[in-house]
Amino acid sequence: MNIISKDPSAISSANMPDYEKEYQEFSWDQAKEELTFFEDGTFNAAYNAVDRHANSEKKDRLALIYESDTGEKETYTFSQFKELTDKFANVLTSNGVQKGDRVFIFLPPIPERYIAFLGILKTGAIAGTMFSAFQEAALIDRLSDSGAKIVVTNSELFPRIEKIWKDLPELKKIILTEKDNLPEGENLISYHQEMDKASPNFEIAHMKPDDFAYMLYTSGTTGKPKGVVHAHADLLQAILTTKYVLDVKDSDIYWCTADIGWVTGVVYGVLGVWGLGGTSVVYGGRFSPESWYKIIQDHKVTVWYTAPTAIRMLMGSPVSPKQYDLSSLRHLCSVGEPLNPEGVMWGKETLGLPFHDTWWQTETGSICITNYPSMDIKPGSMGKPFPGVVAGIVDDSGKELPAGQEGHLALKPETVYSLMKQIWKNEEKYQSYFQNGWYISGDQAYKDEDGYFWFVGRADDVIKTSGERVGPFEVESTLIEHPKVLEAGVIGKPDELRGEIIKAFVVLKQGVEPSDALKEEIAAFVKGKLAGHAYPREVEFIDKLPKTRSGKIMRRVLKAKELGLPTGDTSTLEEF
Ligand code: WT7
Repeated sequence: MNIISKDPSAISSANMPDYEKEYQEFSWDQAKEELTFFEDGTFNAAYNAVDRHANSEKKDRLALIYESDTGEKETYTFSQFKELTDKFANVLTSNGVQKGDRVFIFLPPIPERYIAFLGILKTGAIAGTMFSAFQEAALIDRLSDSGAKIVVTNSELFPRIEKIWKDLPELKKIILTEKDNLPEGENLISYHQEMDKASPNFEIAHMKPDDFAYMLYTSGTTGKPKGVVHAHADLLQAILTTKYVLDVKDSDIYWCTADIGWVTGVVYGVLGVWGLGGTSVVYGGRFSPESWYKIIQDHKVTVWYTAPTAIRMLMGSPVSPKQYDLSSLRHLCSVGEPLNPEGVMWGKETLGLPFHDTWWQTETGSICITNYPSMDIKPGSMGKPFPGVVAGIVDDSGKELPAGQEGHLALKPETVYSLMKQIWKNEEKYQSYFQNGWYISGDQAYKDEDGYFWFVGRADDVIKTSGERVGPFEVESTLIEHPKVLEAGVIGKPDELRGEIIKAFVVLKQGVEPSDALKEEIAAFVKGKLAGHAYPREVEFIDKLPKTRSGKIMRRVLKAKELGLPTGDTSTLEEF
């Protein structure tokens, strides 16, 4: 087997030079020294990510280096960040926001997103983030379930909210971020006007460490997306993993390519890096090999955290990284879907650095199983559990399986500091994750003789397309809103570039003529209603869906049919 061994200088200069030793000695209690608590024992993640640096010798250090899609650059120091987030917190409280309220961010990648996020945390309200690709169906699910009181958005995205506002009785006000030409109306607020008036000092909310800080909607097999809620002190694991896994140091320029609508963008674009007092790059433009290489070159990025689909797109592109000066890079990491050994090796061969795969989930709140700068890489493996975290491969009864045997990838819940604290208004769903003393991830994996974990697949029907998690039910629900669609079953179809693509099997209403044009129309319908990334790239018409006798769509059977595999146990299947 192809093992990438680390050279001694890389090992000794890493923030964590000896993984095994650290794993043996680690305790979360001791690790808490990374955090600053208020004198009364309370805590605020935003104080830790901003104010404490603004009050230290780091005050003039750049927290954010921003480049827009058109190449404009803006920078923000920690002390500027402190003032802006204090102001925004004042804007919120003067507009009625109180501890525990939900305030949602629906913005493209612009600096205001980050100011808003941290400002929300300062008030003690719960910050929610959403992809700017979301359309009305995705928005209404999230904003109504969370009962969001305020949404921070811009004029371009506002019409999508405007359409559904009447169905959101708890949504009181909308804050719009542009300086000029704002739409006007009742309860529409100008970010800039309010910021200009606001005091630059805010009495930051003192929170209990377990009080809620942010929430993110994520998809499962059944039902609508669920609100995964994280606490202020979850910051600890974000900081430690940024330090020991991403290896961020004071000398680094760090770039996490993830959008804030995704948990990676929240935890590693905001909390971890700023909790540690590091400098973070945000690029507001779209992906292209040219623009991404240029960001690394121009900002001298040293640590880069990205995703397998992006890596595969770079690998497949005729644009060579050799055309750019990428010599600043020193550490590369990846997350979100399986990173093929080819991806790891491409990094090594073309950039001189292997990608380090990291595994975690919205629910775990931080990296849990991963590769480290000081640890040899087995390309294709997710690595080993983070210090403090106990991971296992278990069978259905929670019994740990020996090395080499495939089973449920599970974690001892009390060892994952940043594990979700709640599923919003859905205790039953929350409890369903915990079985026989384990947190069950929903992934299948195995562990090898050396303790490295290997991803095998999802145990459920959740789709991962370009790293983004999509629930088949959401797509099916949107499909059947199309006037010509009777029923639909949705699966993830393996795809070399995107990991999986969404494929929809559609039963048309009686009398409707199937055609290629109709397939396109249906795909576009979902794209326009649900989200830019959550639509079926493939539509197939089918006479009848495989269902259990109780009427549940058997997506497993659709998938087997698609892949030309045996359908497995179909004893509960209605005739098909
Ligand atoms: C699911 C979680 C990862 C944080 C942001 C996404 C898949 C994640 C890996 C990896 C193979 C991975 C799993 C997991 N996944 N990382 N390194 N190798 N699969 O979190 O959107 O909640 O998705 O992403 O299936 O359960 P998420």
